[in-house]
Amino acid sequence: MEVIIMPTEEKATLLASKLIAAQIRRKPASTLGLATGRTMENLYAVLAEMHRNEGLDFSLCRSFNLDEYIGLPEEDPNTYRSYMNKHLFSKVNIDIRNTHLPHGNAPDLDLECEQYEKRMKECGGIDLQLLGIGRSGHIGFNEPLSSLASRTRAKALTPVTIEQNAPLFPRPEDMPKRALTMGVGTILEARRILMLATGAEKADIIAKAVEGPITSMVSATALQLHPKCTVIVDDAAAEKLQGKDYYHWIFQNEPEWADYR
Ligand code: F6R
Repeated sequence: MEVIIMPTEEKATLLASKLIAAQIRRKPASTLGLATGRTMENLYAVLAEMHRNEGLDFSLCRSFNLDEYIGLPEEDPNTYRSYMNKHLFSKVNIDIRNTHLPHGNAPDLDLECEQYEKRMKECGGIDLQLLGIGRSGHIGFNEPLSSLASRTRAKALTPVTIEQNAPLFPRPEDMPKRALTMGVGTILEARRILMLATGAEKADIIAKAVEGPITSMVSATALQLHPKCTVIVDDAAAEKLQGKDYYHWIFQNEPEWADYR
């Protein structure tokens, strides 16, 4: 795992965007694993700007999102499908038919999850998986105690996650309490993983995820098992990390990061 600490949220977001852009330029037909949430809104705005101003080309990309709420019709403004259409898909030249999210209102949710995994495999697996982290330590909606080998499935959301996301609903009580999510095992199969976390409210969970023991109580700790995982944080989210000096040294000195300093 590599940890990169940027001084501000803006710089952390820009670095994550540049790494995604580099992936798309290196392999135009990349399969991207995408996330939603407040952290990603700015990142998608930067990617849209890169598309407009630098011609970043999504036309051959395919995408698979991590998760979707159960029980909302697809066109509901609170679905992650609507979020993705609004923040990214309508702003870049990705072919909407190549964008995938699990269908949270499918009649047979187990079958839907099985088919979602199958579609990912048929597309050759995820080249780059983008992740945020919830205050419960979740990645996707893999709440505490999710098996580190779990696959795409339905998951009940914890009170911490409901408290985190309910304010995004016009009537907070309408937030679904269950979601379909890629599993931790599914996520770990991506060829490369990029986690972005910003803000002081993520400092405790980032310290646990990066430097704590691997445990299903904090799903994000499973990322320590991944051979190519980069965690980008701003100063505020890095506040509780023990190894800050070492992480700074790596970013300033390792040749791999020369183009991004
Ligand atoms: C959503 C997802 C979640 C979020 C996490 C952080 O697709 O995968 O794991 O990334 O809840 O959300 P924000 O960015 O709103 O703090």
